[in-house]
This record gives sequence, structure tokens and C-alpha cells, in this order.
Amino acid sequence: MPHFFIDADISKAKTIAKEFYTGGHWLEESKEKIFAKCWHFAGDTGRVKEAGTAFPFTLLENYLNEPLLLTNDKNGTLHCMSNVCTHRGNLIVYEPCRLNQLRCKYHGRLFQLDGSFTSMPEFKEVQNFPTEDDNLKNLPLFQWGKLLFTSLQQGIAAPDFFGEMMQRIEWFPVDKLEYRKDLSQHFTVKANWALYCENYLEGFHIPFVHAGLNAVLDFGEYTTEIFKYSNLQLGIGKKGDVCFDLPASSPDYGKEVAAYYFWVFPNMMFNFYPWGLSLNIVEPLGVSETKVSFITYVCDESKLNTGAGSGLDTVEMEDEEVVQNVQKGIRSRFYNHGRYSVNREQGTHHFHSLLAQFIN
Ligand code: FES
Ligand SMILES: [Fe+2]
Repeated sequence: MPHFFIDADISKAKTIAKEFYTGGHWLEESKEKIFAKCWHFAGDTGRVKEAGTAFPFTLLENYLNEPLLLTNDKNGTLHCMSNVCTHRGNLIVYEPCRLNQLRCKYHGRLFQLDGSFTSMPEFKEVQNFPTEDDNLKNLPLFQWGKLLFTSLQQGIAAPDFFGEMMQRIEWFPVDKLEYRKDLSQHFTVKANWALYCENYLEGFHIPFVHAGLNAVLDFGEYTTEIFKYSNLQLGIGKKGDVCFDLPASSPDYGKEVAAYYFWVFPNMMFNFYPWGLSLNIVEPLGVSETKVSFITYVCDESKLNTGAGSGLDTVEMEDEEVVQNVQKGIRSRFYNHGRYSVNREQGTHHFHSLLAQFIN
């Protein structure tokens, strides 16, 4: 019997066992079994705009903690690779810079901007050197418009994660999105990362928790669609609200869509509004502590702060409060499992099913 079991039939299923949110052991297991196998946001092309530039970053700092490097080589090709020298493990690039090659500051090992080993002082006598292992480990890089994604393993193909979203809104000007540092921020939530995600994955709580959002969304028309490693909640606006101007080719043509809420397993939320994208990245910091980044990209400034895409700070505070209370409640000796609403909690059921599938 696997440790976590979620019945595929939502009407029979129980929610995931509470140990998932309270046991440090499962957070540790999730590192390699879930996070290291999936795709992650790696910033956008603005990080390495010109040929001959490099941008170091840590993937999921304080959790996966993987030092990575984005480069734009002399031909203008982008790469994502390990930022760790293959000699004795020094970090290679410390801050964003322009450069023609990568030189380790410890003993001078040289690499090309695509990560391939070039040369090394004092290594003439070393046998069977260099080999493939002396190149910097290259990681897969997936680009959608300006957005970049990487994965620590050659595992699940990117289209299985992003395909449905890309297709559904292929009319959206993803390549015109402008990153807005001034409108981006992050929050620390005192709750397990999975509690934060599963709250996002149902609109069930909107009428109870979010009075402001409930005033602009038509809860009766709110729907959830499940894909393989992603799902979509379609926010339909009330009459007169700011909505997308959809082309006739869209499967949603004729609907008053105020927001597309796409979630990509395990921790990415793509909230598309008529003004642009609010991308939320959920990063575990500890078993009951989570960092949530709200990364803002704008394509139509004139629609900022309208409709379902307004008051996002208030919505966030309301979500944080309830999720933090769940973290306190879930460890109770009187709580073990819950059940799902068949019509309103398909997204949460999908999430729990994927957690169980990856962990077992
Ligand atoms: S650690 Fe990089 S050259 Fe020695
Ligand atoms: Fe919410």
C-alpha cells in the first residue's frame, strides 16, 4: 500500500493524509521526488539580453538550493547550466556580467559560454582528461515568449506542463510582456507550500473569503479544467466588468473571461488578466513556512487595477490568513483527512493526486 493514496474517483476520494503538511520528512522527500523532476521558472530573457552575458541565480533558495547560470553565448543562443566548477566545486559566476568565457576564480579553469570545458592550468599530466564530466552540466531550457523555464532532470517534456496553457491563450501577447519590478513583491506565509497551492486550486472559497473578488467574478460560471500536469480555472466576469477581448478562434469566444488562472505542477501559478500576467511562484522554506513571489508582467498598462486583476494584495492577505489557520488546524489530533466537493474542488483533487503519484 503506498503511503499516500488519492482515489481517482473524486466522489469517493479523501484528501491527502495530513502528514504531508506536518512532517519534515515528506518535505525532504518532495525535493527529489517532486521538485527536482519538474519544470521551474528561471526568469525571463531580460536577464541575459545581449550576446556575451551571464546571470547566476539559485533555484528555490533555501529548498532545492541549486546554483544555476543563464548565459547568452556569442551567437545569441541561451543556455542554462550548473554554476558549479567541475574542478573542486567553486561557484563560477557571482553576479550578472558581460564576458566572453567563463573563468573559475579559484584555479582558473575555463569554459565556453555554453558550458563546455576549454582549458585548465597545471593539468597536463592528468590522465583521461578532459572528459564529458569536465563540462558544466547543461540543463534543459524552455522558452515561452520572454519567459524561461528549466528542469534539473531530463524528465517530463515541457509541453506536458505548459502545452495546454500555451494553446489555450495562443492569442495572448506573451512576447510583449514587460517585467515590472515596481509591481512585484514576495510574501512569507506561515504554512506548508502545499496548503498554499491547494487553496489557490479551488474557487470554492471565493464567496466566503474574498468579498472584493466575489463582487467581480460570477461564481456560478466559474469552472475548472484538468490537464496532465496543469489545470485551468476560468474566471468569468460579472456584467460590465473588464474582460478579455477574445478572438473568434478562441475556444472561450463569446464568454466574458475576466481571468485565466493556470496552475502548473508543482508550484507555478500563471494568472492572466487583460492587463498582463501575475506569475506566482511558491517556494518551500520549511515545513510550515513558504515564500510566495508575485512577479508582475504588464502588456496593457491602461487596464491595470481593473476587474479580477485588481486588489491582488487584499486577496493575498485574505488567502494567507485562512491558509495559516489551516496549518494550525491540520496538526490537530482530531483531524486526519477531509473529502472533496465534486464540482468545486477538482483542482485540489488533481493536485493531491499528483503529489501522491510523485511521492509513491
Ligand atoms: S574549483 Fe574551479 S578551478 Fe578549481
Ligand atoms: Fe483565495
